[in-house]
Amino acid sequence: MTAQLEEALRDYAQTIEGNAQLYGELEPLKDITYRFQEMMMVYKAAIREVRTKLEVLNDEFQVRNQRNPIRYIKHRVKKPESILEKLHRRGLEISLDSMIQNLTDIAGVRVVCSYESDIYDIAHMLTKQDDVRLLLTKDYIKHPKENGYRSLHILIEIPVFFSDRKQFVKVEVQIRTMAMDFWASLEHQLRYKSEEDRDEEIVNALRECAEDIHATDKKMQSIYEKIKSDHMMEENMYIDKYNDDDIINFV
Ligand code: GTP
Ligand code: MG
Repeated sequence: MTAQLEEALRDYAQTIEGNAQLYGELEPLKDITYRFQEMMMVYKAAIREVRTKLEVLNDEFQVRNQRNPIRYIKHRVKKPESILEKLHRRGLEISLDSMIQNLTDIAGVRVVCSYESDIYDIAHMLTKQDDVRLLLTKDYIKHPKENGYRSLHILIEIPVFFSDRKQFVKVEVQIRTMAMDFWASLEHQLRYKSEEDRDEEIVNALRECAEDIHATDKKMQSIYEKIKSDHMMEENMYIDKYNDDDIINFV
């Protein structure tokens, strides 16, 4: 009986020890999971701030000019698997600090505008706000990518206020026309389908589509300008004169 009891106690002790060891190993993992969740919450908050800023500008524009320069806004927080894949692909350390330091597109906002001129006006009105820091501009409209891709990308940093601190958070904002968005979303889909074997013919056909779409964007813009001048429509939004150097810091 005593021997049985001793054995049972030994088993019990081993189980507890095992659990304790497992618990010890899980502890740092729990810490990382918590810190990761917190970071994702921070990025989501930053997205909300940027969306609000854009929505306010759009509402003001609507009241003053009876039209919306922004057709719609989309946003996303980069998925954990995409974060890991990007860190790995770039040969960067896989850690939370490395993610925060090196990845600038964890929080992404896409703004789809009516006309090409709206893109620059929105970018300008957003980046001149005194709590917005402009870190980088990639103007793929003035400098389209080899494949025909066009969009204005701005990397901004905004303060987000929490109970105990103010934290500056990076948000990548892509601004494009509906036409540019149409091309980019289909090209993105097709890219996933063809992956490696990119046929020269397909690449050329897609580039041609991008050029056609760009020509249409230009035509729509000039029709709009003509109607505006024929009807002597004043745009009452206060957009101070800016030159390209204000927002263009192409890398
Ligand atoms: P990523 O590693 O993709 O983030 O590239 P990057 O850091 O060099 O930044 P870049 O500004 O070139 O691209 C950032 C994002 O813009 C991409 O994640 C896409 O959302 C979009 N983008 C850039 N190039 C293309 C393109 O050729 N086609 C499409 N559909 N989207 C693009
Ligand atoms: Mg990116």
